[in-house]
Amino acid sequence: MDLQNHLYAVALKIDLTLKKLLPSEKTKPKTIHKAIQYSVFAGGKRLRPILTLAAAEACGGRSEDALWAGCAVECIHTYSLIHDDLPCMDDDDLRRGRPTNHKVFGEGIAVLAGDALNTIAFEILAQGPSTSRYPHAAQILELARAAGSRWLIAGQVMDIEGEGKKTTPSELQFIHQAKTAALLTSAIRLGAMSANASPAKLNALTEFGQSLGLAFQIIDDILDVTQSTEKLGKTAGKDVSAVKATYPALFGLQRSRKIAHTLTTKAQASLKTFGKKGELLRALADSMLAREY
Ligand code: IPE
Ligand code: IPE
Ligand code: MG
Ligand code: MG
Ligand code: MG
Repeated sequence: MDLQNHLYAVALKIDLTLKKLLPSEKTKPKTIHKAIQYSVFAGGKRLRPILTLAAAEACGGRSEDALWAGCAVECIHTYSLIHDDLPCMDDDDLRRGRPTNHKVFGEGIAVLAGDALNTIAFEILAQGPSTSRYPHAAQILELARAAGSRWLIAGQVMDIEGEGKKTTPSELQFIHQAKTAALLTSAIRLGAMSANASPAKLNALTEFGQSLGLAFQIIDDILDVTQSTEKLGKTAGKDVSAVKATYPALFGLQRSRKIAHTLTTKAQASLKTFGKKGELLRALADSMLAREY
């Protein structure tokens, strides 16, 4: 199967699993469940759960056992996007090719839809399988840390506080590691955990995720400058107008591309110990570097 078909097939599997695990639109109160479904099923790329499943396979596990972890991470990710788009944060009107959650359901419901997805994530993770090295407590601790105030939230705080201000390269790197790379790394680690990975394999995948995650946010910054709103499904050029701390703003497009490329190569080097089993993750890293949206 070529990579494009693989991505499509896995995204479909994630969608079906999320459909089963999330409360339906008919669940009371309908408004909040409609709002949740609206953003979760808006056509996100599902890259984090795709990485979760690929990491499980790289560690010799079954992708089926990683589905809960992948869906849990996607719920955290979607919540973070709903909140990221709020007028009090990035104030965006468009997400995943549709009006943002608060534009359709109002700010109160959008805040609550994000809150609900944040806890549903743990509800889902707790229903998945545990392994001898990684009982549920270890998995929950993993996701809670990555999504918490030292990582994802820390990055979001520094991102909004950094608007219009001069940031140093190391501050900018931390913002990106925290707001994006931490959850992406956690997606990969949780996949490894579902396969009962050895500590050495978990470490190798952690290094892979950290470099890949940083590259991912740098590409996101680059695409904000170089792509159209139509292609992105979210408003292009927002970072410049909000005077955000981004790689292109600090280093220019060309150097930013080079940094993303170097980080991708570094990430792939961490996969050495996996041999042939690391091929899918290697290919995913290449496709994430080359992505256009
Ligand atoms: C967008 O993430 C936000 C970032 C952390 C850069 P994605 O580009 O993965 O967004 P979706 O899930 O495909 O919509
Ligand atoms: C989003 O970063 C990071 C999180 C949601 C945690 P951005 O603000 O750059 O994401 P987009 O460009 O709105 O998707
Ligand atoms: Mg933001
Ligand atoms: Mg944003
Ligand atoms: Mg962005």
